[in-house]
Amino acid sequence: MKLSQAQDVRGRLRLPGDKSISHRAALIAALADGPSEITNFSTAHDCASTLTCLRELGVSIEVSDGKLKFTGKQNFITPRRPLDCGNSGSTMRMLAGVLAGHDLTAELIGDDSLTSRPMRRIIEPLELMGAQIKSTDGKPPLTIRGAGKPKPITYKLPVASAQVKSAILFAALNAAGRTTVIETSATRDHTERLFNGFGVAVTTNDLSITLDGPARFTRGAITIPGDISSAAFFIAAAMLLPGSDLTIENVGLNPTRSAFVSVLRSWGAEISETDVRMERNEPVGTINVRGGVNSKAEVVDRVLGGAMIPSLIDELPLLAVVGTQIKDGIEIRDAGELRFKESDRLATTARNLRAMGAEVEETADGLRIFGPTKLRGAVVDSYGDHRIAMAFSVAALIADGDTEIRSSESAAVSFPEFFELLDSVTRR
Ligand code: S3P
Repeated sequence: MKLSQAQDVRGRLRLPGDKSISHRAALIAALADGPSEITNFSTAHDCASTLTCLRELGVSIEVSDGKLKFTGKQNFITPRRPLDCGNSGSTMRMLAGVLAGHDLTAELIGDDSLTSRPMRRIIEPLELMGAQIKSTDGKPPLTIRGAGKPKPITYKLPVASAQVKSAILFAALNAAGRTTVIETSATRDHTERLFNGFGVAVTTNDLSITLDGPARFTRGAITIPGDISSAAFFIAAAMLLPGSDLTIENVGLNPTRSAFVSVLRSWGAEISETDVRMERNEPVGTINVRGGVNSKAEVVDRVLGGAMIPSLIDELPLLAVVGTQIKDGIEIRDAGELRFKESDRLATTARNLRAMGAEVEETADGLRIFGPTKLRGAVVDSYGDHRIAMAFSVAALIADGDTEIRSSESAAVSFPEFFELLDSVTRR
């Protein structure tokens, strides 16, 4: 993909459904006590992987009128083929939790990137619950022999991960007794909100999350809010291009996901949130961004670190791009988890930023970005990572000259419509 410098971004957008919420809604609908319907399901390739795996397990999912219709009340069958999770860590980790609570054996496989990602973080708690899981040195493929009747556990998460928390909670649905997950820092809470929204009581007390099993989801309908992590690229582009005026309707505003909005505001962005309402316990609303950074605003949140990292985790490469434009620069700390994402996001972000002329220091668990720098067009690479492809598309819009993004098609992992929608709001 070749992109050139833009003047501004203007218009109104509605985005496909949130990826994180879509994975969970599909798993919930598959396990519910009757028919359920999902509207505005994510178009991400990752979420299609979740549906493919569920179909292999015998779940009937029909697509009609742009909705997914699940029959529910079905027992899983032993799949005839390995369950292919593609590029999706969320699919593999959360489905492993679901399978750990069922009486069957299944193999979970993925692409090269997923095959290099750490799975001990789910293997350990799910084995404590009674599942047996074979891996290659803690990495996929995974062969899971489900526990059928898993044991409830109390488990302190060694890493801040919503996927691991969710895997345990999905397994706990079939465990007789109380399961408690204790987090080190709060991570996205979609699982807790949706479980409660579909009739399974989950209580949160500070960093402890408790579910009393066995429990079953009630059938129902849900409209998935637009993906705030997809919106992030448009919000950042509008902020960085003076004269922009962009509205994004119907977007998820869950505070464990929208923390980057507060960070951008603290860097001088003018962003408003209106029309906020609830959809199955998830806040949804409209975001408006007026372009340009208020240069008089005092930059707070210059150092991103500690407990705020999990709620910014997917936006950190993008915040690094924006950081190149912030007076006196920014710093990201305590973000070693970025090395275990779809690419080593500390390394791939630093490499691409340097190619575009930014001054960057890479540390073991973060980045120091020395700003402000006028970026220059360059050849960069997504390294097969969707969020890197999209973050550097935003960089391209503010850089002098043309930028070529290699393997930009990886954007489809979370957002197939990204380049088309970006083009539709960009003026050059
Ligand atoms: C996700 C959790 C995060 C995030 C990923 C989606 C989820 O991963 O990076 O894009 O839907 O629970 P971790 O749980 O590994 O931090």
